[in-house]
Amino acid sequence: MANSVTVRAPSSTANLGPGFDVFGLALDAFFDEVRLSKRKEKGIKIISKDPIPVNPTKNTAGLVVKAMLNKFKVNSGIEIKIKKGVPAGFGMGSSAASAAGAAVAFDELFKLKLGPNELVKFAGMGEKASAGTIHYDNVSASVLGGFVIVRTEPLDVIQIDPPKDLVLCIAIPKLKVPEKKTKVSRSVIPKKIEHAAKIRNQQHAAAIIVGFLTKDSRRIGESVIDEIVEPARKHMIPGFSHVKKNALASGALGVTISGAGPSVIAFATKSSNLKRIASSMKKGFSKAKISSETVICRPTKGARIIKK
Ligand code: HSE
Repeated sequence: MANSVTVRAPSSTANLGPGFDVFGLALDAFFDEVRLSKRKEKGIKIISKDPIPVNPTKNTAGLVVKAMLNKFKVNSGIEIKIKKGVPAGFGMGSSAASAAGAAVAFDELFKLKLGPNELVKFAGMGEKASAGTIHYDNVSASVLGGFVIVRTEPLDVIQIDPPKDLVLCIAIPKLKVPEKKTKVSRSVIPKKIEHAAKIRNQQHAAAIIVGFLTKDSRRIGESVIDEIVEPARKHMIPGFSHVKKNALASGALGVTISGAGPSVIAFATKSSNLKRIASSMKKGFSKAKISSETVICRPTKGARIIKK
């Protein structure tokens, strides 16, 4: 049995507009690397050069390892080394990537051979550290890759391979994000939703699924329409309306908040003018005096072992 396993886990976008807490998509924009090693001393030790909590109960990967040690009655100390590539707090599934990496690495280190739903369940325990509640959209994408649909009662994650020509353009604003950003941005979502808006969101969500099944990027992008969560959250992203308007005017098929934000994601195809979309999004943020970074990326595979 190996004494150490390193896993590379991708960034992801959640919701894709109408699929709040249900849809996720793994993206090759950024990756986290998580190395798990057995150690003689009991307990969990976290090492990272990045500014993340090293207390295992406050760290997404730490929580996952803690839960897995308990569940599988593993009698070994663990060292977790984390190299962050996914920017934290910008709606790119940063906490999920570390959690997914930890779950996949633990499974390999102790030859547990867990199935996809079990891996996702443990990875989801890490999300608690940042969001306060467990939601599985980002972790499912980061563990399984591609497009995911999450059902929770009981947990059942459906994975679909995205069309090859789907391309995303993400604008990441240089904003100071609150420490518990996801928790804050979940608190603004209305508790009561107008029935007609709910129906329209369901129509769009269904069309997105069909788009992924039939490998129709245009249908996916044009169905990224959300009448419930985006309107409630957009005030938290200065310049959002300009960014969205500009991207659509530059040929993006659909535009929405990436996960809980503040990044904005535009859906396009490889034949779109991607540089034009990216620079128009940047200009949109500039209008609100916010500088931003743009990334053009594609869907990708899930967490994978890169070293043993
Ligand atoms: N579905 C979640 C949200 C993703 O939008 O709050 C954030 O991690």
